[in-house]
Amino acid sequence: MKILLFASAYNGMCQRMHRELEIEMHSVSIELSANEQHMIKAVEDFEPDLILCPFLKHAVPEKIWQHHLCLIVHPGIEGDRGPSSLDWAIASKATSWGVTLLQADAEMDAGDIWDTQKFNLRHTSKASIYRREVIATAVQMVKNVLHNAISNPDFKPRPLDYTNPKVKGECLPLMRQDSRKINWSLDTTETIVRKINTADSFPGVLDSIAGNAVHLFGAKAEYSLYSATPGEIVGHRDGAICRATVDGSVWIRQMKMAQQEDRRFFKLSSTQVISQQFTNAADFSALKVINSRVQNDIKIDIEKAVAYVTFDFYNGAMNTEQCHDLLARLRELRERDDIRVIALMGGEDFWSNGIHLNYIQAAVDPARESWRNINAIDDIVQELICMTNKLTVAALRNNAGAGGAIMPLACDKVFARAGVVLNPHYLTMGLFGSEYWTYLLPKRIGDVKSKELTESCMPVLASQAYELGMVDQVFAEDWSAYHRRLQSECEALAQDDNYFSVLARKQYARMQDEAVRPLESYRQYELQRMKAIFDNPQSEYHHLRYNFVYKISCQATPSRLIYKTIPSQSKQIA
Ligand code: COA
Repeated sequence: MKILLFASAYNGMCQRMHRELEIEMHSVSIELSANEQHMIKAVEDFEPDLILCPFLKHAVPEKIWQHHLCLIVHPGIEGDRGPSSLDWAIASKATSWGVTLLQADAEMDAGDIWDTQKFNLRHTSKASIYRREVIATAVQMVKNVLHNAISNPDFKPRPLDYTNPKVKGECLPLMRQDSRKINWSLDTTETIVRKINTADSFPGVLDSIAGNAVHLFGAKAEYSLYSATPGEIVGHRDGAICRATVDGSVWIRQMKMAQQEDRRFFKLSSTQVISQQFTNAADFSALKVINSRVQNDIKIDIEKAVAYVTFDFYNGAMNTEQCHDLLARLRELRERDDIRVIALMGGEDFWSNGIHLNYIQAAVDPARESWRNINAIDDIVQELICMTNKLTVAALRNNAGAGGAIMPLACDKVFARAGVVLNPHYLTMGLFGSEYWTYLLPKRIGDVKSKELTESCMPVLASQAYELGMVDQVFAEDWSAYHRRLQSECEALAQDDNYFSVLARKQYARMQDEAVRPLESYRQYELQRMKAIFDNPQSEYHHLRYNFVYKISCQATPSRLIYKTIPSQSKQIA
């Protein structure tokens, strides 16, 4: 089939849907514009059999849905309507939620229903639920509909019927800040975390700290009780601040200053926002660093000679200091005789998205900070490549992009979770890239494919990465099933009778590679190009990074997303 995707951004959902549909042998084209004329033109040019809207924030023009079947992925249960579905679901303490595939109609989200599926609602942020449960459910549903409904003449979508007792959803308005507001003197820790979860990653909960209006993100319940006024900052750790509540305390990992007349802001760590952007900048040296198991970006769990290293950096972005911390922890593990396998788990929502573009943008000298950051991440990759006294595993349980999609290749084994999307390219950020990609990528997939991947700038699904050789095995998408399998594979590696001969082979292979071309020369080659880009104030990178952190989207759909067909006479929509 020819399937046209209308989307408000080429986000994780859209990327996955795109590649999944292509794997099913459909021809897919994408239109990202909200402009009616552009949308009509995209339909006329591509002449799709089906229009699918995996992530669309605006309505489909009537002129289009009247003549073409348009199916909309709505992140809500049957009957749910409105722009804040997940926000209301989390706020109402729902224990399960769903995704519905409905037909575009005159009324937003009120069209005929093609399918609806439910999932258990985790106690976490809206963005995390979207990235994990909503995307997985939507993809399965779209595949089912394509296999079983579209070509079935007997299939009839059912109209939305609020008189049906099974229809539990309702039409709810946009959730505004007054519904999100925290009452520090009344709200419990659980309520505060829930309120922030409903607004994370966007728009955040608007609050006031020392007279500064800020949006809060990345909440975690701590429950340690402090003799402090609720709302007061009692300590910090990893850039997060801990604030007292009526029944405990809560961590706030990230903040964004509210827009001021002439100034816009972007997310940064809470301590950075307070110390750099508050009118009455705070000095954190007086506040204690809290030792906490809850707020701990890097966690290491050791079991049966396997060290599982979780590095849960917000949004998968790794700044210089975070890279230094991770490197230090890896070096400690390297020295331990009781550990045979190190499994790099990434974070809860992303594996890694490479250097920290927000942090770099906020630096006094972004070129210098870019340089520090790329060197710091390169040091981690180098450590992994040279760790010849242990076996290393990249547990790609979530998406990874740019340098974060290359870093796993430094490990001996790459075990991906089905459905994970990798973006192993740098050009969309105007960068040549480093992380030893010129060594690691061709070594796994050859020169031709490396060039194709890094230049086409297209996402790659775990299954495609497996076909290419970037990934060694793909395990189940189900979170628990993935972890069970990962654990058993890691333990098998650690307990293998041939463990030491496997290590010896690894050492020999590294020596051979080093003899052919020293590792350092790959780094020099990449960093020389990166430095030229960083040090040129006119380079595209500085401009693209600015647009990325301030969320300035390019108006037109990138040509790489538009399906290239042999020109035919395009039909006019009646
Ligand atoms: N630095 C800082 N923030 C980053 C980041 C990075 N390297 N990569 C992603 N993010 C943030 C996004 O700004 C977004 O923030 P939000 O919470 O305000 O929404 C969030 O992570 C999710 O990213 P998003 O782009 O919405 O996710 P996606 O699934 O649609 O796309 C990528 C994933 C990796 C393709 C995309 O995020 C990207 O291009 N990132 C930049 C990667 C990069 O160029 N790194 C530098 C070179 S090593």
